[in-house]
Amino acid sequence: MKKQKRALVTGITGQDGSYLAELLVGKGYKVYGLIRRSSNDPFVRLPELKHKVTFLYGNLRDIATIEAAIDESNPDEIYNLAAQSDVGVSFKCPHETIETNYYGVGRLVNAALAKNPKVRIYQASTSEMYGKAKPPQNETTVFMPVSPYGESKLRAHEDFIVASREKRGAFTVSGILFNHESPRRGEHFVTRKITISLAKIKLGLQDSFELGNLEAKRDWGYAADYVEAMWKMLQFDKPEDFVIATGESHTVRDFVEAAASALGMPIHWSGKGLKEVGKTADGKIVIRVNKKYYRPAEVHYLLGDSAKAKKKLGWNPKVKFGELVRMMTETDYERLKRGIVA
Ligand code: NAP
Ligand code: GDD
Repeated sequence: MKKQKRALVTGITGQDGSYLAELLVGKGYKVYGLIRRSSNDPFVRLPELKHKVTFLYGNLRDIATIEAAIDESNPDEIYNLAAQSDVGVSFKCPHETIETNYYGVGRLVNAALAKNPKVRIYQASTSEMYGKAKPPQNETTVFMPVSPYGESKLRAHEDFIVASREKRGAFTVSGILFNHESPRRGEHFVTRKITISLAKIKLGLQDSFELGNLEAKRDWGYAADYVEAMWKMLQFDKPEDFVIATGESHTVRDFVEAAASALGMPIHWSGKGLKEVGKTADGKIVIRVNKKYYRPAEVHYLLGDSAKAKKKLGWNPKVKFGELVRMMTETDYERLKRGIVA
């Protein structure tokens, strides 16, 4: 009989963690998830899955808890999804960001390789590492991060993932993932903020909301498609890094318009810059621009080229922009209509 594979997932309480846990459990893995005492519980809506995952208390900032989790789970594969993942917050809390996203990765990778040099490790790297680099971005594009978040992820990628692979022969890989969203997306990210706010406005539960830069362009895909790519990277015969993206880019403004249309509530813009507003057909202002949501430094244009993943991993995104926006908007609208707080 084939030995059951064991996986340790950090960041299991996040958006990607929940989709990855579902995928791995479905594939017959014994799944361990690292959780902090303060963790949210997205598994509230996934009760069946909850009983199939073994949760271990730990924190990437605390080496003793990492070593204990590795000892207990004895993993064949580690998926490091834990991070201070909010780019805007990284400007306000750079130390916490670097502690978790840089030193935390070092602690995890070194402890895991010390216990088992053959363990396969996936690191959640990011398109934010490209920063100012001209699109389309792929595995050969030079990184030019502009945020503490992007910088912390880039340093971890180079110092622990690439270096362990090249100097120690370890199976350590980075998935350079472009933005991916879902109905489980954290509410402070722009897509979910838009879908929740517009759904509340449509239901008469809220009057208006505020956004920052409407012109930023992102390559938005569906999280469930992206966790499949993570798994494929660790099954590949060689440790290599891969860009994962849809190859389509849209502005924040496009996202607002698509979500509003999905609710049958088109938005009309007027004014410019910080004075710009979005109105519904009856002339009611529902969106304002607020400087507070602008970042000290912005990544203006992300557009990924995932030809390598397509060729070597046979990976393709199934859900594209239009379907993704509709799915997120309709899910939030239906939940709120039933009185479920999004
Ligand atoms: P998320 O929803 O914000 O989840 C982050 C997870 O990290 C949460 O489970 C959080 O736990 C955990 N965490 C934070 N600090 C920790 C620490 N010190 N020790 C242990 N766990 C900690 O993020 P996501 O969207 O699922 O993204 C997953 C990963 O992919 C992140 O590393 C992110 O930077 C990266 N990434 C995401 C995207 C994207 O578009 N979603 C794109 C590229 C890369 P709590 O519940 O306790 O807070
Ligand atoms: N969050 C937020 N809130 N962003 C806003 C707002 C707002 O009110 N208004 C405009 N934006 C703009 C941001 O300035 C940014 O250009 C864009 O919307 C997307 O912001 P986020 O949804 O916060 O995502 P992100 O691109 O900064 O970071 C996400 O994607 C990265 C991959 O590129 C996160 O998931 C990161 O963890 C991930 O690595």
